[in-house]
Amino acid sequence: MHSRDIRKKFIDFFVEHGHTYVQSSALIPAQDPTLLFTNAGMNQFKDLFLGKETRSYKRAVSIQKCIRAGGKHNDLENVGFTKRHLTFFEMMGNFSFGDYFKRDAIRFAWDFLTKVVQLEQDKLYASVYKLDDEAYAIWQTEIGLPQERIVRLGEADNFWQMGDTGPCGPCSEIYIDRGLKYGCGQAACAPGCSCDRFLEIWNLVFMQFDRQADGTDKPLKHTGVDTGMGLERLVAVIQDKDSVFETDIFEPLIARLEELTGRSYAQATPEIQAAFRVIVDHIRSSCFALADGCTPSNEGRGYVLRKIIRRAALFCQKLSEKNIFPDLVQTLAHQMGDIYPELTVSQTHITALLTSETEKFAHNLTHGQTILNSYFQENNNTRIITGAQAFKLYDTYGFPLELTNVIAHEHGFTVDTQEFEVEMEKQRLQSGKKLKTDDTCHMDESLFTHFTGYDEHVTQSKIIGILVNNTLVQEVPAGTLCSIITSKSPFYIECGGQISDEGTVKIGSYETKLLGIKKVGTTSAALLEAPTALKVGDTVTLIVDMPTRLNTMKNHTATHLLQAALITFLGKGVKQSGSVVTPDYLRFDFTYHENLTPEQIVLIEDLVNKKILENLPVKTEHTNLKEATSRGVIAFFGEKYNPEQVRVIEIPGFSAELCGGTHVRATGDIGLFKITEVTALSAGNRRLVAVTGPAALLAFQETFVITKALGQEFKVTQEHILDAIKKQKEQLREAQQEAKELKKQLSALLVPTWLKDTKTVATVPFLYKHLRTLAASDLKDTAQELIKAQPGIYFLTTTENHKASFFVAVAPQLAHRINLKNFGAWLKELGLQGGGSGTSIQGGAVVLPYNLEPQIVTWLEANLAN
Ligand code: SER
Repeated sequence: MHSRDIRKKFIDFFVEHGHTYVQSSALIPAQDPTLLFTNAGMNQFKDLFLGKETRSYKRAVSIQKCIRAGGKHNDLENVGFTKRHLTFFEMMGNFSFGDYFKRDAIRFAWDFLTKVVQLEQDKLYASVYKLDDEAYAIWQTEIGLPQERIVRLGEADNFWQMGDTGPCGPCSEIYIDRGLKYGCGQAACAPGCSCDRFLEIWNLVFMQFDRQADGTDKPLKHTGVDTGMGLERLVAVIQDKDSVFETDIFEPLIARLEELTGRSYAQATPEIQAAFRVIVDHIRSSCFALADGCTPSNEGRGYVLRKIIRRAALFCQKLSEKNIFPDLVQTLAHQMGDIYPELTVSQTHITALLTSETEKFAHNLTHGQTILNSYFQENNNTRIITGAQAFKLYDTYGFPLELTNVIAHEHGFTVDTQEFEVEMEKQRLQSGKKLKTDDTCHMDESLFTHFTGYDEHVTQSKIIGILVNNTLVQEVPAGTLCSIITSKSPFYIECGGQISDEGTVKIGSYETKLLGIKKVGTTSAALLEAPTALKVGDTVTLIVDMPTRLNTMKNHTATHLLQAALITFLGKGVKQSGSVVTPDYLRFDFTYHENLTPEQIVLIEDLVNKKILENLPVKTEHTNLKEATSRGVIAFFGEKYNPEQVRVIEIPGFSAELCGGTHVRATGDIGLFKITEVTALSAGNRRLVAVTGPAALLAFQETFVITKALGQEFKVTQEHILDAIKKQKEQLREAQQEAKELKKQLSALLVPTWLKDTKTVATVPFLYKHLRTLAASDLKDTAQELIKAQPGIYFLTTTENHKASFFVAVAPQLAHRINLKNFGAWLKELGLQGGGSGTSIQGGAVVLPYNLEPQIVTWLEANLAN
């Protein structure tokens, strides 16, 4: 059975059993700071389990892209060395949100495995959480699994948590016995053993709790089911393959790698086979992460991606000297592009980024390995790479700890990872980076603020809560710094890049400035200094500062036009990676692998302005995610959307984006658009800054005034200013050159005159001369002229830009008379710093000492050799 059939059978089975098929979410979790990458099918349903969100369905089925390479669920170090670990995999799962629970979850799983994909019943085992008698009983009495094939395991195996906080619960896992040939041979070998015999294929989690930051488990309002089965593992079992890497899922990548390197995977040594496995796995995780807009960096998920790519680069070295990544990207896009179109759309971007990231690292990879080799020699007794050494490799050569671990392991060394962490912590403290402190406030869930700011900018509302230092109170006296929570509010709270509104709050005859506004739970809390005593139940009027808001709206709609224009000219691979919308400017970060050319920038700017001039209506529509994405509406991966209720901002025929921000009524309201900055943030990330409306007008007016003045200055029309400047620069350069030549000629003419001033010091002709008109760089040539005319010792000085320079030249035939080293040292004492060859010294001084000439003469008289 091909993996494609298995996918289909899985979805069909659960759809037949009343589940709604939900597409995989992106690998970048939407607004969930507790996660680096999407690591389980249930991530996109987290708020449903927590009861914070409801949908029209209570049963769902999905096949979710997952990366487990950092954070709580991290398989990175294992990949390559086991037959089953992957950093990227697809998780098949069925879910119940307050609908069925243990009984049906177990029944569905059993039926799918034994009836649909027809695994041999006798080979299946189940584990349950040690205290879960209910699940045990279902397996034993309802499914009929013999007691010896059910095991009770502890928390580590059979209690699943999404992260340190969030939904969790006991679980039951299904294992398949792959036979003795996969086993460790130990008598105690059973499900839960780390060998490959009892392979865990499906995890059924019975969601019951919400784990709190303090470690306590708060029961969920509704229990639920979250199951996860790695597609790759199931395929290996069904296709009876030794490992996931031999299934049809990896076959195209392995075959391509064999072609590219001229090696056979099947016949390779274990070390080379491991390299094959690492590369084909890492190429998948990095391609999928890059396609979803993640870029390598030194922080967070960007660093995890960097680690994966660098690890791939290390193993790649073992197979080939060529850059084989582009070929592998192509193979993967070809193989999976129909299921995940983002791979094809972003293929160029992915290839460029992978190449640049590996090229940048290539030099350090070689260098770091040499250093590591010297550590192996130094530490041969202990066979430990110290934490300080591993840290140096990390800090100086960009070696992630995982890389040092791999190489150390290959040489039979271990790494002191504990000490490494201590070094990391030291650096963190030195750089002043503080860990984020938790200033969260837990809001009563019954409180809710309705946002009125799409339709009005003045709203009267009742105070429903008052927060002082994150604590809800009923009243506060005048002068208290507090946040009032109202049942309605027109104030926009920072979201989707658009910054929060400014405004005022009126209470009776008092009016006070809004000091800030933030979201607390489902409410909005307006920070102010109470101008009078306030209490819950009071009526207040909230007033948005409209000039500021209008400018923000112009910039927000312009951001949508900009994104659409970028896609028009640069392709669909362009993805928003960040955005800031303020009243003064907009900033838009996006993934693109090349610098934008000036021509491209003009085209983009023109297209945005064209759409502004067309005065197209800006329409708001409410629909569901599926409908919106099916007609190509752009969604930003960093944003969290309720799939059943999304807001679409559409500029007909040009742009349609999911967005919760505030916008102008028609594009003409933007007035004008001007890009003011274009920068490259990193290899795959660009940034544009632009202004609109009054700010753009001001930019044009200022530019006009300046260019007009320049035109008048140069006496040319505007379009000829640049030429005039270039011409004038050229003329200046020529004039400078000419002046230099003239000065040279002049000094040549003056040499005979200067020579007349020559003194004889201890039989040697000596001249000290301050040549005001010469540049420091001309002193040398002049000194040579003088030597040619009369062999002697010449000490020439000049002052240029308030800095003194000197040049001492000694005729070669007199070189034996003077020890220039001693002379230089003596000059140094006088503040003349310099250096030189056997017959000259040149240098400078802040100022030339008073009476320098007689002092030199005295020195020469005392020191010249006979
Ligand atoms: N969330 C569970 C897991 O990841 C089941 O899907 O294993």
